[in-house]
Amino acid sequence: MPTTSTAPRLAGKRILLTGASSGVGLSAVGLFAAEGARLVLVARRDDALRASVRRQGIDAEVIPADLADREQAQAAVARAVEVLGGLDVVVSNAGVAVFGHTLEVHPDDFDRTVAVTFTGAVDVIRAALPHLRESRGSIVATGSLMTRVPLPTWGSYAAAKHALRGFLNTLAIEEREQRSGVTVSMVHPGPIDTPLFAQASSATGDKPRVPPDAYAADVVARALVETAVRPRRETVLGGETVALDVLYAHARPLADAILLMVDRWYRSGEEQASIPGSLWSTDAPPAISGRIPARQSLLAPLQLGGRLRPDPRTPLRLAANLARAGVRALQLVPALRRPAPERRPPVTALRDRAPRQGQDPVNVPT
Ligand SMILES: NC(=O)c1ccc[n+]([C@@H]2O[C@H](COP(=O)([O-])OP(=O)(O)OC[C@H]3O[C@@H](n4cnc5c(N)ncnc54)[C@H](OP(=O)(O)O)[C@@H]3O)[C@@H](O)[C@H]2O)c1
Repeated sequence: MPTTSTAPRLAGKRILLTGASSGVGLSAVGLFAAEGARLVLVARRDDALRASVRRQGIDAEVIPADLADREQAQAAVARAVEVLGGLDVVVSNAGVAVFGHTLEVHPDDFDRTVAVTFTGAVDVIRAALPHLRESRGSIVATGSLMTRVPLPTWGSYAAAKHALRGFLNTLAIEEREQRSGVTVSMVHPGPIDTPLFAQASSATGDKPRVPPDAYAADVVARALVETAVRPRRETVLGGETVALDVLYAHARPLADAILLMVDRWYRSGEEQASIPGSLWSTDAPPAISGRIPARQSLLAPLQLGGRLRPDPRTPLRLAANLARAGVRALQLVPALRRPAPERRPPVTALRDRAPRQGQDPVNVPT
């Protein structure tokens, strides 16, 4: 949906955006630029970043960095400060995931997920903090429902996201205690239609079956912009997200039963995943959508204001997605009724496996 803003609301604000080459971050680039922000964009795929800047005619600095590497994260922040002359907002959005149960995921793949999604975010924020204190600026992080609720088959991701929330809520209190003026905000969406699922590294060898219903990436991108304009500590974004969050907090047995089905749903995917996947490599062409049945959010405008007003067809899309999900679930009854068999614990990390040609010998089902 086009923004209804008349005057740019972030005019001249110096913004560092991580994870800007794909999905939510890629969708957010143009929105931040339209609000007048001066942007520095960070991700590993600098060609993707440059192409998006060129395509949108935006004046933004591009800094390629692997945020799992502390030196690269710190250097990216230092360069952003040099280019922009300081920092007003850090949007910490980069994240990555590996698919598989705990014993299926090699410890190096587990650690790498945490190193990007949690430690990488911490390194960026810690390096930026002195500069944000100077400007009395703000931190806006793309959290996830998985900062608050577990996600079977994505344990390292859920752990990293929970840690991120713990860190940022702690930081918020420290900054308040110091009267630094720095605000900390998190946006927690449910499933989003981005390439994350299709490109995720998979320890099982199969791609996860994609969620049957997801928020469009631009809903989350707009939420990040609204939160940069008006900081809010935590926003659990969207009705479906709120429903699961409330269930997990207040009806744990029911939430656990739903999550068990979610686990089996993900594990019923039949397509082979690429190796090593996005955890370690970055050759996929950049895209905003992951071709997941997507829609906007009916609740988001009540949470973040009229600029998140959904497309009028949203109720129909939601109904269609739920109906299709129901039909698919019926077709998948055999898979959803039984525990999904686990693969043998891997001998090597995905990073060290040759790109797949047919069956991956490490991941032969037991
Ligand atoms: N998709 C969902 O269902 C969902 C739900 C809730 C929250 N989220 C969160 O939304 C945020 C954006 O994810 P997305 O869904 O838009 O996924 P995405 O399309 O896969 O984008 C992830 C971004 O992170 C960057 N990234 C990955 N590894 C990196 C590394 N080592 N160093 C620097 N940058 C790295 C990627 O860029 P390069 O590959 O070019 O490095 C890309 O720009 C993440 O924090 C994710 O956890 C996603």
